[in-house]
Amino acid sequence: MSDPITEAARRRTFAIISHPDAGKTTLTEKFLLYGGALTTGAGAVKARGDRRSATSDWMELEQQRGISITSTVLQFPYRDCVVNLLDTPGHRDFSEDTYRVLAAADAAVMVLDAAKGIEPQTLKLFEVAKARQIPIITFINKWDRPGLDPLELLDQIDEKIGVTAAPVTWPVGIAGDFRGVIDRRTDTFVRFTRTARGATEAPEEIVDSERAAAEEGAAWTAAGEGHEMLSAMGLDYDEELFLGGELSPTFFGSAVTNFGVRLLLDGVIDLAPAPSARLDLDDAPRPIDAPFSGFVFKVQANMDKAHRDRSAFMRVCSGQFERGMVVTHDATGRPFATKYAHTVNGADRETLDVAFPGDVVGLVNAMDVRVGDTLWLDQPVTFPRIPSFAPEHFSVIRVRDTSKFKQFRKGIAQLDEEGVVQVLRDPDFGDQAPVLAAVGPMQFEVAVHRLENEFGAPVELSPTSYTVARRTDAASAGALRSMRGVDVLGRSDGTLIAVFESIYWLDRLMADQPELVLEPLVAGELASS
Ligand code: G4P
Repeated sequence: MSDPITEAARRRTFAIISHPDAGKTTLTEKFLLYGGALTTGAGAVKARGDRRSATSDWMELEQQRGISITSTVLQFPYRDCVVNLLDTPGHRDFSEDTYRVLAAADAAVMVLDAAKGIEPQTLKLFEVAKARQIPIITFINKWDRPGLDPLELLDQIDEKIGVTAAPVTWPVGIAGDFRGVIDRRTDTFVRFTRTARGATEAPEEIVDSERAAAEEGAAWTAAGEGHEMLSAMGLDYDEELFLGGELSPTFFGSAVTNFGVRLLLDGVIDLAPAPSARLDLDDAPRPIDAPFSGFVFKVQANMDKAHRDRSAFMRVCSGQFERGMVVTHDATGRPFATKYAHTVNGADRETLDVAFPGDVVGLVNAMDVRVGDTLWLDQPVTFPRIPSFAPEHFSVIRVRDTSKFKQFRKGIAQLDEEGVVQVLRDPDFGDQAPVLAAVGPMQFEVAVHRLENEFGAPVELSPTSYTVARRTDAASAGALRSMRGVDVLGRSDGTLIAVFESIYWLDRLMADQPELVLEPLVAGELASS
């Protein structure tokens, strides 16, 4: 008999976060290989296009750009566990979409390229994971190629994101001459052997220290010294610090050759926390075995071109979800029938009959459901909404062909609801020339592409000089509108947003006219400006 407590204990729900090209897609595929979920073997590692179709990329734009923009979930069994791997968008710049995925994950695997370390554009993503105290496991990838000194990589993680990197495995052989790793938990040397194109699991051999010294020579001696030095520096695994987001257990490997992939996946199973009681709006925990509850972290329209639809992705927080259940949509108090529940493995959809805490359920035709909404059965609960970020990029958008205005209008309303971009409207121009606001400029590209391809409304974007936004009220709006370098726009939820060309101007205004209401859009820690 399965019950929510037993099933939740078997779940590991996590996301992989990385800079594009660090190896997230390759690692995802190798996890599937080790999970036995790749029926064709990782032989799909051929042409880039083929390989990508094996995982979770599906949107046209993703394929064109070779990056992953939308998120899906991959579920596969491993050991006696069920792994839920949430896919995060691989934008070069941070986007809110990634952040929402992190809200549904219990841990994150941060993939770094051994030759590049922490790259500036993705720093923010890692900072956010740290600020939210998400336990982060680090994978230093591409050790088969020349790269930085391992200690320097640890230093970077510490200095740039303020997380102590504590190696669980330590490489034998410098980057580019990768022989194996010392598993620091058991003090054993695990030696790897290459397989053709990394298509099958890399054979591993436990080698005792005498043989290691004889066969690996200087590489073994150096690794042993490094391992001792780490202990002397106190860089050992500590569960409490890890779960509090202060320390990141670190693994070295090479996704392409499969070296270290099993140790990493085992590390995720052994170290990452299983789903636990989620706190509601009043900070009261919703026990895992309470009646069903879940929250929506992503809404996506038109996933299936043949059927115009709208899917909401919900993470189960408590109880057992059963397809067909009629649950309550907390935001409206209305019943919501879950007849069309499915799992999504990349582009494939399968009907899903039951799910447990930690699992992700895709709900098709979830017309009224928005990101952050709670669904529950029997016992009401409201989970906190997913915090949003202050936009830093603003562009005016117009439809190029006025006969397509209806489609344009529908499209921007949809993108606004999905949270692809925020849509701000000038009361005088309304939908003629709304301002799109985003955390990262990539969000604009996605919006333009989707308006053209899904809604048939070709658009043009023009830059604005706005750089910072503040929440204001009707009383202040009049005064602000009469000033230079400021405009007041409206969000679809009725909030008035003042946008400024310069933060200095804003600061001065706040000092000179303290009576004006100008509040940050989000709580301090998450504000991006
Ligand atoms: P991403 O999803 O994070 O963007 O990265 P992706 O897995 O697509 O990997 C980016 C590139 O890095 C790919 O090369 C991939 O083969 C390579 N790569 C990934 N892991 C490793 C590794 O452990 N070692 C080495 N040496 N390379 C690795 P590409 O040339 O862009 O594509 P492809 O022709 O190899 O498919």
